[in-house]
Amino acid sequence: MNFTGAHILSISQFQRSDVEYLFTVANQMEPYALRKRVTRVLEGAILGNMFFEPSTRTRVSFGSAFNLLGGEVRETAGFESSALVKGESLQDTARVLSGFSDVICMRHPQAGSVADFASASRVPVMNGGDGANEHPTQALLDLYTIARELKGKGRGIDGLRIAMIGDLRHGRTVHSLSKLLCLYSNIQVILISPRELALPEDIVEQMRAAGLAVTVSEELNSSIANVDIVYSTRIQEERFTTKEEADLYRGKFRLNQAIYTQYCEPNTVIMHPLPRDSRSDANELDSDLDSNPNLAIFRQTDNGLLIRMALFALVLDVVGKVDQYSHDVRWYNSRQN
Ligand code: NCD
Repeated sequence: MNFTGAHILSISQFQRSDVEYLFTVANQMEPYALRKRVTRVLEGAILGNMFFEPSTRTRVSFGSAFNLLGGEVRETAGFESSALVKGESLQDTARVLSGFSDVICMRHPQAGSVADFASASRVPVMNGGDGANEHPTQALLDLYTIARELKGKGRGIDGLRIAMIGDLRHGRTVHSLSKLLCLYSNIQVILISPRELALPEDIVEQMRAAGLAVTVSEELNSSIANVDIVYSTRIQEERFTTKEEADLYRGKFRLNQAIYTQYCEPNTVIMHPLPRDSRSDANELDSDLDSNPNLAIFRQTDNGLLIRMALFALVLDVVGKVDQYSHDVRWYNSRQN
């Protein structure tokens, strides 16, 4: 694909070679993310960061990634504070805001809304999550994390065995990750969810058509025995009609250190797109895993910066100029100690 000026809306846009190139560029961003060097390559550029659904890490990660390349960030959060409550169409909002920004990141509760917005935007738009549909940058950072974790074990992505757990019906991160895995060979996927929250059939079919070995289970412990990665997710309560309905499923699949030790292969990597629901009736990933070195959840969030920096650098066509406009950091850097 040609990244320059492209909207990043869905994993379906990517070929394997695009993903590999993106990961190479992400590696080049590390000195900047780790504050060893500072680059001003996007000096003067403005990111319009528009989040119409709750978000902490995705919103701040996009914003920080843009800042780390030297650009400025304008934020809009919540429908209440935007003209959408006055009946403005998403397309009109796009026509206006794309006059103010060089790139726009957007999250919105409706599936397809970000693509609708992008169709009227004069600048590239990145999908930060459109309802229960897709979350492509999360899937890219998840796969980048998987690649890095497995590299430490002398392995590549081909041959991966992964268990995806939880609300697979509404979880846009697993939708995008499942599509991304279709670009690789010899992949085994175990889908663990209540039957009512199973991964949408069209995505399962897409994976099978791409040659992935997909099995389905409603039981956690026996299904996580032979995998490299357990990828846990939160019950997406905002997608249910009532809280009571979501309560039926909350806390069904809880991973803790005792279960991990008893059932998982040694060094199985634990992932989660976050936020993990740490309330006592949910607790899908217990805090007693926090000292487990295979818990990769905070490496995922760190890697998210690298992936989003790489996407900005590619879409705004500055990959070759990042180092040229850089210098050493001047302040005390606690990360190096
Ligand atoms: C996810 C999301 O918003 O889809 N969070 C994230 O962006 N890392 C997962 C979730 O909210 O459960």
